[in-house]
Amino acid sequence: MSGKRATPLRLGVLASGRGSNLQAIIDAIEAGSLAAQIVVVVSNKQNAQALERARKHGVPAVFLDPKPCAGRPDSRETYDRAILEVLQKYDVELVLLAGYMKIVTPVLINAYQNRMMNIHPSLLPAFPGLDAQKQALEWGVKLAGCTVHFVTEGVDEGPIIIQAAVPVLDEDTPETLALRILEQEHRIYPRAVQLYAEGRLQVEGRCVRVADAASDAARAIRNPA
Ligand code: GAR
Repeated sequence: MSGKRATPLRLGVLASGRGSNLQAIIDAIEAGSLAAQIVVVVSNKQNAQALERARKHGVPAVFLDPKPCAGRPDSRETYDRAILEVLQKYDVELVLLAGYMKIVTPVLINAYQNRMMNIHPSLLPAFPGLDAQKQALEWGVKLAGCTVHFVTEGVDEGPIIIQAAVPVLDEDTPETLALRILEQEHRIYPRAVQLYAEGRLQVEGRCVRVADAASDAARAIRNPA
């Protein structure tokens, strides 16, 4: 994956809720800072605001009901096969999980190996899973943040592409911290996708090398100062 692309990168976004990260991707594309197009948005929640956002921008928005698969021993895999069918129908090249609150199975992970990204509101590997901001406050960390990573089988475990850190303040609640982190999510997710579109991401084991990345060891941040 390197060199200039002739056509915009085809993105498929999976989202379960509000869709502010989806919106950040849409905005970056419309602003010309992300050379990609969203070809489909899929949700497991019929009323997800993400589906609304997609429709508003003329992007096909698909609700796939997980209920018919529920109760079967391979319910997750069956559901993921249905998702995969949609992604393939739209010729999706890179899948973005954007507040997608379902565990993805190898059915999707293997089909999109190193071609599926997730955003998580912590500095992974700290605080994977649910309520990452609350976990950060409970641990008393001084820096929190967010991570964009490739998706592998372990939850929130794949090779890390970009992280951004924010300070944790004494008066923070999970909500105020989440907002501060979200602002950074909206910066780094489109950036990670653009790096992919430019063919600058190389996965080596559990590390991602970014070609031509600025290197400046003096840019350390500390909190408290
Ligand atoms: C974001 O904070 C995202 O990092 C988090 O859900 C929120 C979705 O917001 N994802 C996870 O916790 C995944 N483990 P959004 O729907 O407004 O993009």
